[in-house]
Amino acid sequence: MTRPIIPAQGSLRLRFAVAMLAWIGTGLLFIGVSTSALFRKHVENQFHDELKVHLVELAELTRFAADGQPTLDRPLSDPRYEMPDSGYYWQVEREGAPVLKSASMRRGALDPALAHQPEIVHRLARGPTGPTMTYGFARPAPDGGSELHFLIATDERILNAVISAFDRELQRWLTLLAAGLLGTGAIVNIYTLRPLDRLRQSVAAVHNGAARRMEDGWPAEIAPLVADLNGLLDTNEAMVSRARVEAGNLAHSLRTSLAILTDEAETLAKGEAGDSAATLLEQCRRIERQLDWHLARARAGVRQGATTRLPEAIQPIETAMQRLHAERHIQFSTDGTDMVALAIEPEDFAEIVSNLTDNAGKWARSRVGIDWRVAGAEAMISVTDDGPGIPASMRTSAFGVGSRLDERSPGHGLGLAIAQDLARHYGGDVALSGRDDGADGLVARLMLPLARGQQPGIEGFDGP
Ligand SMILES: Nc1ncnc2c1ncn2[C@@H]1O[C@H](COP(=O)(O)OP(=O)(O)OP(=O)(O)O)[C@@H](O)[C@H]1O
Ligand SMILES: [Mg+2]
Repeated sequence: MTRPIIPAQGSLRLRFAVAMLAWIGTGLLFIGVSTSALFRKHVENQFHDELKVHLVELAELTRFAADGQPTLDRPLSDPRYEMPDSGYYWQVEREGAPVLKSASMRRGALDPALAHQPEIVHRLARGPTGPTMTYGFARPAPDGGSELHFLIATDERILNAVISAFDRELQRWLTLLAAGLLGTGAIVNIYTLRPLDRLRQSVAAVHNGAARRMEDGWPAEIAPLVADLNGLLDTNEAMVSRARVEAGNLAHSLRTSLAILTDEAETLAKGEAGDSAATLLEQCRRIERQLDWHLARARAGVRQGATTRLPEAIQPIETAMQRLHAERHIQFSTDGTDMVALAIEPEDFAEIVSNLTDNAGKWARSRVGIDWRVAGAEAMISVTDDGPGIPASMRTSAFGVGSRLDERSPGHGLGLAIAQDLARHYGGDVALSGRDDGADGLVARLMLPLARGQQPGIEGFDGP
């Protein structure tokens, strides 16, 4: 696939390119301006030093004729003062005598205002061929006559020409540098963002089914994202395959009942009633229970913030169980006054506790007790009965789907499986044990995490 030269709007590549342009632009502008200023200062200093030396040399070479007219011993050491209009000029003045000028100054004159003090001063002044940097000072004449005024000057254009030449050179270099930086920047841009292209291809491969997961070997910044994505893919895959199995299980579990129902319906159609009504009823209950089981399993995904409050949630279960097992005169009681909030949906809590209490009601001789207490970040709800109990070796197998340890009491062997499945779903569990007091009976213990804010150490904890 060919990559467009101009990156798409809103893309990381475009951001990168813009940031790089701004970075290179500001950097080079700064380097350009500061280097030029530094160079100008340096060249100006050099010019000034040179002119001062020439001025001193001029004063040293000045002699006087018998009529007081100043003359030079010999020309200044720099030949540019001899070349016409070279931009390098000198001038010596004495009141009452003609002005002595350098051979280079064919017209005009230097401004003598600068040469009336003993110390050397300088100024940008008008000169014979344009603005000049002019230096001047005055010295008493050795013959006791009137003062001598020395002036020396260089055209500003000479200084400017040196600086402009340097600026042009600098500009060429900076342009070359910018091109180089832009080129390497483009390579850096492509190189650093290449894993994103690979990421896109990898996601596309998963999307169109060419790959099941994202491959390994990513930069440190992308690796966690890929790990999360793979985790998500795994979870999805597990959910889909679980849903498939569940759908299969549901169909399978209903098929037997459906076959029996069909059979009974055919019997009825033939006019032979028999005990079909009881069979139909039994099969309908079986189907209902199977649906309970599968619905409980289908409720996947804990909703954030789900809470069930005790003792409110226990009361309706106790009342329903009292009614359900009224024929056997079982006494249900609750023992627990602690206000507790559990991290579970109220419907799921009712489903679990109803199953445990229903079992206790079916097997108890006379009494069933429900109590609860908080232990650390969990609450433990115990359902205790005074029935025959389950031998320790068989307690684990009682949780198996369809597992029925004793056929004397009606049931489908799903209650404990449903309860445990739901409890685990919320990070809790269900376990069976004998009674603490050693008497006959079974204790079904439900462990569930406390709702946020209920846990010790968290603000708002109002547990015991
Ligand atoms: N409190 C108890 N005392 C004695 N045995 C029990 C008790 N609770 C459960 N069991 C045994 O464990 C088996 C499994 O219980 P479970 O609740 O899973 O199924 P069920 O009660 O038989 O049927 P269902 O709950 O689906 O109507 C029961 O058949 C029973 O043999
Ligand atoms: Mg049961």
